[in-house]
Amino acid sequence: MQQHSSTAAMVDSVTPGRFRNLMSSFPSGVAIVTTTGRRGRPFGMTVSSLCSLSLQPAMLLVCMRNESETLAEIVVRGAFAVNLLHRDGREAAVLFSSTAPSRFTAIAWDTTPTWSLPALPEHAHTTMECALDNVVRAGDHTLIIGSVADATEWRQDLAPLLYGLRRYATWPENSGPV
Ligand SMILES: Cc1cc2nc3c(=O)[nH]c(=O)nc-3n(C[C@H](O)[C@H](O)[C@H](O)COP(=O)(O)O)c2cc1C
Repeated sequence: MQQHSSTAAMVDSVTPGRFRNLMSSFPSGVAIVTTTGRRGRPFGMTVSSLCSLSLQPAMLLVCMRNESETLAEIVVRGAFAVNLLHRDGREAAVLFSSTAPSRFTAIAWDTTPTWSLPALPEHAHTTMECALDNVVRAGDHTLIIGSVADATEWRQDLAPLLYGLRRYATWPENSGPV
């Protein structure tokens, strides 16, 4: 399809750096997506692109960079866990967004009740287990769409961890659900 020249100029003006800047002022929660790889090895990465997709059935989506090792293992396993981090999960978020090769040796973890996927009960307030439904490649990222099969709520008393303006944050103390 031929692109109108002014449209092309507009697209060119949104460079990766500028787009990253623009999106940094759209804060979100923080999760660690995990799966079990071949020979039982755990994989996981920090994400903020988590989004709920459908209520009935319960479905969610996550965008992961195409080269992600965790993404490759999720596609093979056909299932993944989403660990929703609480305010004390910052250390885990930093670890799982680093280039550390053995993230799971540096942190306490457990397995989920249904599919024995890696869970982070000390860092997450909730862990959801998802069956992989669909994989959609889009630009330099890939959308994974999952159906939520089970959820474990570890801590309901701790506020969620937030990320925006390139830093972690939490809700002010004693701001419970309305
Ligand atoms: C707060 C935060 C949110 C992030 N969100 C995402 C995301 O949604 N998708 C993504 O691909 N990378 C995201 N990243 C970067 C990955 O965590 C990082 O590239 C990680 O090392 C990838 O791990 P992997 O190569 O083992 O898959 C995020 C990083 C941080 C600090």
